[in-house]
Parts: sequence; structure tokens; C-alpha cells
Amino acid sequence: MAALSRHDHHRPGLGHARLTPLYDTVVRLLGVPRLHGRLLEQADVRPFCAVLEIGCGTGNLALQVKRTQPAAHVTGIDPDTRALASAQRKAARTGFDLSWDCGVAQQMPYSDGAFDRVLSSLMLHHLDAEQRRAALAEARRVLAADGSLHVVDFGGTVDHRDGFIARRLSHTARLADNYDNGLLSAMNEAGFARVTEVEQRVSRVLGRIAFYRAER
Ligand SMILES: C[S@@+](CC[C@H](N)C(=O)[O-])C[C@H]1O[C@@H](n2cnc3c(N)ncnc32)[C@H](O)[C@@H]1O
Repeated sequence: MAALSRHDHHRPGLGHARLTPLYDTVVRLLGVPRLHGRLLEQADVRPFCAVLEIGCGTGNLALQVKRTQPAAHVTGIDPDTRALASAQRKAARTGFDLSWDCGVAQQMPYSDGAFDRVLSSLMLHHLDAEQRRAALAEARRVLAADGSLHVVDFGGTVDHRDGFIARRLSHTARLADNYDNGLLSAMNEAGFARVTEVEQRVSRVLGRIAFYRAER
């Protein structure tokens, strides 16, 4: 792992650094591993693909990439040093070799075109509009010419049948920008091509979740 340094101005996974040790238990209960599995099917990671997860947190998705495609080169970046330390411990336990970097998605230490796939799971809603713009521009910069971005996050179009939680979340200040065409527009504005909403799912606890795919 690259030297860990402190990066301020980020929201940890559960909103507060003290809660990071509970992160894996909470996301398991929320069914996040199933979302990861679906995102990975969409990303179609091939052997020797270079894969980057932005906002990798405790490394669950990055590790799942490695489990499903052991010949892929997988890197995770996140500003939360506690979450990264947990990712690193889990990788050591499983014997998988991944790279973990401490940093923010808006300014990444990778060369242009370094990755075939960039993945983002439940991360973009942590960013304000300016940070999100910068993070998507960086994701595009680090993708190879034929590379693709795969995103799962709060999003899609909430309707009255979605239930109370989905409707409430869609009005939360931090999440509101994601819904309707918010994420699609942000990816288009960042210069991605063939930006597609692949599917939407409604979870009783997380509300409406959408999957997106975009090409460099
Ligand atoms: C809800 S967690 C998701 C973690 C992981 N992607 C998953 O699906 O389990 C959001 C993560 O985004 C990270 N994050 C927040 N701001 C970030 C930024 N500016 N750049 C990269 N990651 C960021 C947080 O530290 C946290 O680990």
C-alpha cells in the first residue's frame, strides 16, 4: 500500500469515522454484496485487466473483483485510512495481492489511461457537485481509450410505489443530485461516451439504487 497520509474533507462510509469498524457488518445486512456482484457482472473484468475502485472503503468490492478474476490487477483508492487498513488486513488474510492507495477520487496519483475499468460503488453520493465533477473527470482521465466506468449508487427515478425510505432518501440534500438524470448528466458532462443506466433496483432499506455504465 502507498504511504497513508491524512486527507481531510471526506465523509467516511457510515458518515462518521467512529462507525468505520461497523461498516462491513452494516453493509452485509443492507445487502450491499449483492449490488457488488451485479456491478461486477456488468463490468465484465477479463484476465489481466487493470481495475481501479474509487472510494474502495474496506475493500469488499475490490476483493470481490480479485476473487472472481484472480488475474486482474486491482487497485483501490480511498481517503479513509481506517477503512484502508481494514482492506489491507482482509487482503492479507485471503492472500490476494491488491494495491491500496490513500487519496481522493478528485485527484489521483495514476497516469492517463492506466486502467481498463473504473468502478464506483456507493461513493459518488459522498461528494458535493464540484467534487463529483472533478472525480468523474479524473475517472475518465485514468481510463484507457477502450476502458469503461461502472457505477452503482443511490439513483434512478423514485416513484410513489417505492415506499417511504426511497421517497425520503430522494429528498435528502446530499443524495438529491443523484436521482432522476443527475448521475447520467454528470457522466455526460465529464465527457464520457455511451452513458447508460443499466438497471434500477429498489431495496426496502436503501431505497432506489441505479447501475450505470459509461465508456471513455
Ligand atoms: C459508503 S462507502 C462505500 C465503500 C465501498 N465502495 C463499498 O461499496 O462498500 C463510501 C466510501 O467513499 C469514500 N470517500 C468519501 N469521499 C471520497 C473521495 N473524495 N474520494 C474517494 N473516496 C471517498 C469514503 O471514505 C468511503 O470509504
